[in-house]
Amino acid sequence: MDSILIRGGVRLSGRVVVSGAKNAALPAIAAALLTDDEVTISGVPALDDVDTMCELLGNLGVAVSAAPGRIRLRASDAAARPAPYDLVRRMRASFLVAGPLLARFGAARMPMPGGCAIGSRPINLHLKVFTAMGADLATGNGYIEAVAPSTGLRGARVYLDYPSVGATENAMMVGALANGTTVIENAAQEPEVVDLANLLSAMGARVRGAGTGVIKIDGAAELHGAAHTIVPDRIEAGTYMAAAAITGGDVVIDNVVPEHLAAAISKLREAGAAIETQGSSLRVRSSGEIQPLDVKTMPYPGFPTDLQAQFMAILSIARGTSIITETVFENRFMHVDELNRMGARIKIDGRSAVVEGVEALSGAPVRATDLRAGAALVVAALVSRGETEIFGVSHIDRGYESIERKLGALGALIERRADAPEFVVAGAS
Ligand code: EPZ
Repeated sequence: MDSILIRGGVRLSGRVVVSGAKNAALPAIAAALLTDDEVTISGVPALDDVDTMCELLGNLGVAVSAAPGRIRLRASDAAARPAPYDLVRRMRASFLVAGPLLARFGAARMPMPGGCAIGSRPINLHLKVFTAMGADLATGNGYIEAVAPSTGLRGARVYLDYPSVGATENAMMVGALANGTTVIENAAQEPEVVDLANLLSAMGARVRGAGTGVIKIDGAAELHGAAHTIVPDRIEAGTYMAAAAITGGDVVIDNVVPEHLAAAISKLREAGAAIETQGSSLRVRSSGEIQPLDVKTMPYPGFPTDLQAQFMAILSIARGTSIITETVFENRFMHVDELNRMGARIKIDGRSAVVEGVEALSGAPVRATDLRAGAALVVAALVSRGETEIFGVSHIDRGYESIERKLGALGALIERRADAPEFVVAGAS
């Protein structure tokens, strides 16, 4: 297992280019199941999760041809086989193939996606959509099966009790081939949802309202191929903003959509950083002195849950006490123990974390428990005294392309250590 070694204390400076969004690439790859024609997706980040999704589609009979940054997919020989258990358990986003399989082949047999470190990750809203559109559901042996009626799926009006990103995306993909119009109420408004709507439109679907709380999709008899470029990754961009701020750096971040980062920009300015937007670039300058903040994660356009851990790292050295409230997932504070191991003073109180700023953090051996927790440890290590070794790097590799190359280019003292001896947290079960 690899580890990442970081020696803290360097003020980051220079330019970094953001990759395509993981959370736009994954649904876009799944959407290729909706047509026999070739779908070309460009701007795809080189990430383990992208590889996993391509592997899943390959298992379903899709021809996948990957080149750096671009994937060609053709589902002409695809069939509704059960998705492999281990793949779906490994990555929750695998459930994004359920909608396209149901829409295209009239049936989807999926392992129940497991929970993960950040929460139980239910799929009740996805199933509510499938049922509303006429599918029959059956469960057993750890699988869930959805079967469309012989007359095909019908467009429906469906209200999402929570603006779930995945359920919105599955609803759009099923609606794109259903008979009639589907109206999704209380839909997720994330930029990645809009990106998928743009791809579906390019494939011949008629999608209106993406980016608002009400999305309407007129089903088509069939969809055709398309070429699509993935939207930049706002969460990767926000992570580099946090790294620049915490180290007192001066960093220009290229390939961003500033309005996708409005909440993060606003909170980072409140914390004392100077942020200028220039077209598709964003400059972050900081003295390294961080003002305390209150942060509450919300569905987009609120503050993103995927930046909560990284901002907790920044606030752990703020000049005062901050409150972070996580409203999206029920267990997304796994990074607290590891940050405290580095000298932070954070206490969890229900869905909130009270972060008492300390003078300085100190390097330590720590473990990433999930993707964004790992990113938070990287951010904290960049400003810690001494050396930090981060284990569980496979979590980080799921969502960050070449993180040590990109941070190294900004001056960070960072290296990957292949096959590091396994580190066991003292007392860990
Ligand atoms: C997407 O996950 C992202 N993943 C997550 O990013 C992100 O944190 C999340 O949206 C919220 O923005 C991808 O896009 C691949 P949800 P998703 O359905 O779709 C509850 C990362 O780090 N819920 O919007 O799974 C759920 O339990 C990852 O890149 C139900 O109750 O998120 C959670 O509390 C982590 N029933 C809340 O909604 C359902 O049927 C948000 O989940 C579905 C969800």
